[in-house]
Amino acid sequence: MFTFGVHYQKFTAVNMPNPAAFSGVTAMTDQLTAVINPYLLDDRAPVSEEVTALDLPVVGQIPEELAGRWLRNGPNPANEVADVAKHHWFSGDGMVHGVRLRGGKAEWYRNRWVRSDVITDKLGEPAIGGPAYGGRTSSGPNTNVGGFAGKTWAMVEGGGTPCELTYELDTVARNAFEDTLPAAFSAHPKYDPATGELHAMTYCWPDLVDHIQYVVVGSDGLVNHTVDIPVADMPMIHDISITERFAVVFDLGVTISFDAMAKGINVPFGWNEGRQTRLGLLPRWSDSSEDVIWCDVDPCAIFHPLNAYDDADGNVVIDFCRYERMFDHDQLGPFGDARPTLDRWTINPDTATVNEERVDDRAHEFPRHDPRVGLKQHRYGYTSEVRPGEKLLHGATFKTDYQTGEITTHDYGPGRGGAEPVFVPKADSRAEDDGWLITLVHDLNESGGYGAELCILDANDITAPEVARITLPGHVPVGFHGNWVPDTSVSPS
Ligand SMILES: [Fe+2]
Repeated sequence: MFTFGVHYQKFTAVNMPNPAAFSGVTAMTDQLTAVINPYLLDDRAPVSEEVTALDLPVVGQIPEELAGRWLRNGPNPANEVADVAKHHWFSGDGMVHGVRLRGGKAEWYRNRWVRSDVITDKLGEPAIGGPAYGGRTSSGPNTNVGGFAGKTWAMVEGGGTPCELTYELDTVARNAFEDTLPAAFSAHPKYDPATGELHAMTYCWPDLVDHIQYVVVGSDGLVNHTVDIPVADMPMIHDISITERFAVVFDLGVTISFDAMAKGINVPFGWNEGRQTRLGLLPRWSDSSEDVIWCDVDPCAIFHPLNAYDDADGNVVIDFCRYERMFDHDQLGPFGDARPTLDRWTINPDTATVNEERVDDRAHEFPRHDPRVGLKQHRYGYTSEVRPGEKLLHGATFKTDYQTGEITTHDYGPGRGGAEPVFVPKADSRAEDDGWLITLVHDLNESGGYGAELCILDANDITAPEVARITLPGHVPVGFHGNWVPDTSVSPS
């Protein structure tokens, strides 16, 4: 029997604006969005309890070869939000959800807040240890979780120190890669299977305001290389692409915003109209920002590249999800200004020019690919349909064949949508696409509540019915990112 108390926080519209006070459409949109704050409602509503559930019900058959954990991190405010109108989706306390699979069974589900002073105070626990960049102990990493160097890590951008977690998702301590990290890290380091290194592009207040920092973490879990790159305006650089030759800087349209600061928004970034947006190619062998090749691109914002590679003609190819603008009228989250499309940049390093192409007009996000491809050319990509404004943010899972141009779809059925599709290679297989897709499925039931399942698809044919549907004990808020961490990567405790 599950015991999973879902208690949606009660949010009240505070600082309710008087519509008559606003004559401009922009101001009205800003204020109404702030009051409603869709990032705290419906399938994004936080939960209030940590739960352990054993032997989860399964429809279908979990592949017996899957031995490890599916993990996912996301924002889940622990206390009632003081000012809904100024609460940015990215600022919620981190909560990691996990499901352990072994022998064809789903042995457990756990959700745990990543410990910070706010969480340990709330739960009456001693504070965790470990260095905190800038003294930031009041928030835990809320954006990604994965395995590296034999440990489980929760990660965030902007200056939050990574946290090490146990196998069962309890927080061990903050860990700045054994004190080798100079300043900030990222939620989206990229793994190079040829070297075993993680590569990240980082920013933070106050040390990395007039420059960003490229950080490389060796397979031993220690930072072994950094490059400071002067960049104006403190852009929100959420992710990085790497190829065998280059690390790519996304110096785009979202930057620190004095307007958002003046409004008191707790993640004060905004759309920087008229800013020259550009991509930077830093040769991976370089230790100098003077070697960066800057290439102008049309104004846009990006959170996530799907993959990048050096093509046979010497170009850098990046497939990614593109936003026409972001944090302009909607400064509380990413979806109010534009829907993300599936696009491709082809960058010529010799001419510093970029060819920009639209791959698909539908709204794609949370892109993933077969990790065995490494930094080589991929054929397939997997994305989640996002539906801003709907009660279910996520919709179908898309599979894009970049060779044929065909896009196939997995529809989870009425009232159901799948989040980030995590690719897990099948045992004893080598071919790209020969794997499983694990997705968290949000289920809007007839009573208006939300259930959740962990679904497994066969990536070879995502139009087929789910291979397995694992019933989770209750609502899991829509969140951000996670990974499959096999037991061969991080050992069970
Ligand atoms: Fe992300």
